[in-house]
Amino acid sequence: MGVGVLGVGHYVPEEITTNQDFEKTLDTSDEWIKSRTGIEERRFARDDEDTSDMAYEAAVRALKDADMEASELDLILVATVTPDTPFPSVGAMLQDRLGATNAAGMDIGAACAGFMYAMVTAKQFIETGAYENILIIGADKLSKIIDFEDRNTAVLLSDGAGAAVIGKVSEGKGVLSFELGSDGSGGKELYQNEEGYIYMNGREVFKFAVRQMPQSTINVVEKAGLSKEDVDYLIPHQANIRIMEAARSRIGISEDRMAKTIHKYGNNSAASIPIALSESVENDKISDGDVVVLVGFGGGLTWGAVALRWGK
Ligand code: ACO
Repeated sequence: MGVGVLGVGHYVPEEITTNQDFEKTLDTSDEWIKSRTGIEERRFARDDEDTSDMAYEAAVRALKDADMEASELDLILVATVTPDTPFPSVGAMLQDRLGATNAAGMDIGAACAGFMYAMVTAKQFIETGAYENILIIGADKLSKIIDFEDRNTAVLLSDGAGAAVIGKVSEGKGVLSFELGSDGSGGKELYQNEEGYIYMNGREVFKFAVRQMPQSTINVVEKAGLSKEDVDYLIPHQANIRIMEAARSRIGISEDRMAKTIHKYGNNSAASIPIALSESVENDKISDGDVVVLVGFGGGLTWGAVALRWGK
């Protein structure tokens, strides 16, 4: 038996904010944002749309894709740093809203790497035989904690949600290897400050990320007993195109073999990897039997990567 992805889904808010919109309110330019980050536009949720609302939409789509009823879920794990409230958790809220009558629910906080933490946690519960079907979601409404007067962060970040149903797949498919890591000494480079806003030392986070993302990518490939030539598709956290390119060039695959949503969605934290995964599936970028690597990093500092063989 393997443990893999049974279905995926995602949700992004409708409202588009372009780089030109930010030119009107900040000392910045479309040229600067595009050339330094690859971002052209991003989505921010409505005032009456919170993290749990986006998570719910993504969850419904993932359950439909998995052809599964909510009552078949054993556990709901929501990776988020922007829950509607500290408690109840978004996981508990979704348990009720989805009608997941047999599921436990909780949140996981590992910032932008959260979806990787959720996937690896789900794998453990299934492998031990404790649970069969687990809904994992990466959802964040960063706009609640963005200082829109801070050009260092405001132009980079956004909102959204992505989900996957994790369960049993056939032997040889599903998760082949993983790596999770934290370096709390780097917590001071990226955190929520006393005023409630995101503070980021962009240069330090960049240095960490261009080193860690390629390294974690190669680590999970090697742990799976594969070589980089075996990787068919790469799904990196969408924080900065230059960081994504560092991971891509380390395994040497072509541009069209890397998921890219950053130009249209920016960095929506824990949601970025599952949204990119869901869109890639929707656009037939991933085929049965493909080796797919998902890799992320974020505040903590945290990082996580998974190599999986696609299919059920
Ligand atoms: N518009 C114009 N100028 C800007 C802007 C902006 N929006 N933001 C910063 N600048 C300025 C800086 O103030 C700096 O000016 P200075 O030299 O006078 O101090 C100048 O641009 C250059 O800054 P650098 O830091 O050298 O620019 P760099 O090319 O490194 O790009 C960036 C900055 C995009 C922030 C980059 O460092 C980066 O992507 N870092 C990682 C960000 C990241 O991945 N964050 C993850 C967050 S994950 C999570 O948990 C939410």
